[in-house]
Amino acid sequence: MRNLLALNWKMNKTPSEARSWAAELAERFEEGDAELAVMAPAVTISTLAANLPAGVGLGAQDVSAHDSGAYTGEVSAGMLADLGVGYVVVGHSERRDYHGETDAVVAAKAKQAQANGIVPIVCVGEKLDVREKGEHVAYTLAQLAGSLAGVGADVVVAYEPVWAIGTGKTATADDAEELAAAIRGALEQQYGKRAAEIRVLYGGSVKPDNIASICVKPNVNGALVGGASLKVADVLGMNDALKNA
Ligand code: G3H
Repeated sequence: MRNLLALNWKMNKTPSEARSWAAELAERFEEGDAELAVMAPAVTISTLAANLPAGVGLGAQDVSAHDSGAYTGEVSAGMLADLGVGYVVVGHSERRDYHGETDAVVAAKAKQAQANGIVPIVCVGEKLDVREKGEHVAYTLAQLAGSLAGVGADVVVAYEPVWAIGTGKTATADDAEELAAAIRGALEQQYGKRAAEIRVLYGGSVKPDNIASICVKPNVNGALVGGASLKVADVLGMNDALKNA
């Protein structure tokens, strides 16, 4: 399965900065073995749609759980689809922690995305205290079950141990594979044979010098990258590193 390199800018880059980033990428980008997609702040999506080089996909970082109507400040899946968005991150730990998103809300958002032809990237993962108790597999699978309730198989799952996000502490490749394999097993129970086509990403302090060792693992099919997505040089480095991974 082709690796997906999902670049989550989080709350970084204005539309002008996004235009410069896309121009720099366009000058130097050669499509490699991985699929690249930028998960952009909502206000930069139109700019990126007009400026990203061919072969680089477009994603959003959140979506409303509702169709349309009196939800001030929200962005619907239909609006994102109209801009050419192909992916949306749902259930990122930062949304769960700072905005109180529950598994049920995450599942509702994922269903909205799918109803509009957008593939949700559903994030799950444990905090440090859970891992220290040795409960990380059970915790993550319970979170996954709730977040995928009623969600179709056209989905990507991102395993992000919260203790590895933005901290410089990367899970080992074996840690990532342990959870990716457990997630794959749960996906098989829910989706049967279609589980083999579902990409499971790893996220948490991924950068050019560690991405290949993680993505070479049999159940890991790419990465969700925060900090190292902001500089074109790092993105090109990760894209190169994924050749043959
Ligand atoms: O969405 C991306 C993840 O939260 C990882 O962020 O690469 O900065 O650790 P990071």
